[in-house]
Amino acid sequence: MKELRDATDKQPLRCMLTSPDEAQLLGMLLKLIGAKNTLEVGVYTGYSLLATALALPDDGKVLAMDIKREYYEIGLPMIKKAGVAHKVDFREGPALPMLDRLLEDVRRHAKHGSFDFAFVDADKDNYLNYHERLVRLVRPGGVIGYDNTLWCGTVAADTDAVAAGGAGARVLAYYRHFVLELNASLAADPRVEICHLTIGDGLTLCRRIK
Ligand SMILES: C[S@@+](CC[C@H](N)C(=O)[O-])C[C@H]1O[C@@H](n2cnc3c(N)ncnc32)[C@H](O)[C@@H]1O
Repeated sequence: MKELRDATDKQPLRCMLTSPDEAQLLGMLLKLIGAKNTLEVGVYTGYSLLATALALPDDGKVLAMDIKREYYEIGLPMIKKAGVAHKVDFREGPALPMLDRLLEDVRRHAKHGSFDFAFVDADKDNYLNYHERLVRLVRPGGVIGYDNTLWCGTVAADTDAVAAGGAGARVLAYYRHFVLELNASLAADPRVEICHLTIGDGLTLCRRIK
């Protein structure tokens, strides 16, 4: 995990990395719920992916999606070195159509989703679209984690203060709208119960209850 963090530290987009304590929490959570079959949207160099693969049993699988394989390949040597590459099924491309295909399979066979856990850490403007798919792909009692739900604290700031911020304020202000919408929507969703944590940039855990 440290080697992967160090390798990512040389990358221009290193700020995208999940924090070490959050990765540790994800690993613990997976073990606590006995997860075997998981899904990840937004891999980057594979830090949360490695935490996941390490926590899964030897015959567990994480289906990992990202639009850029080249990011994943930065962390792949460390994933191999950790001896867990056989648990990773990496697929390159936009996650939404891939989730739709998985859902189609679930519908065709009239079965419940079989994923124990899903972690979403990608394009914030699609989180609600992901949620509509994941809440059916994850089994009842399973958990979905959404990252960045505090969005650098801007979800609690007033709109003018966010717009007046320094560099990056425009990006923060743009995605803040989607994160606020997601947070309100998850809090009101009767299909899940939530736990909104102030770890990393905010992590919302949703346990599917129906
Ligand atoms: C914040 S990073 C993920 C960080 C990673 N979870 C970690 O532990 O370091 C977000 C990733 O989402 C990917 N991404 C953005 N839009 C996407 C999409 N539509 N489908 C799949 N992946 C996407 C980006 O390429 C990027 O690698």
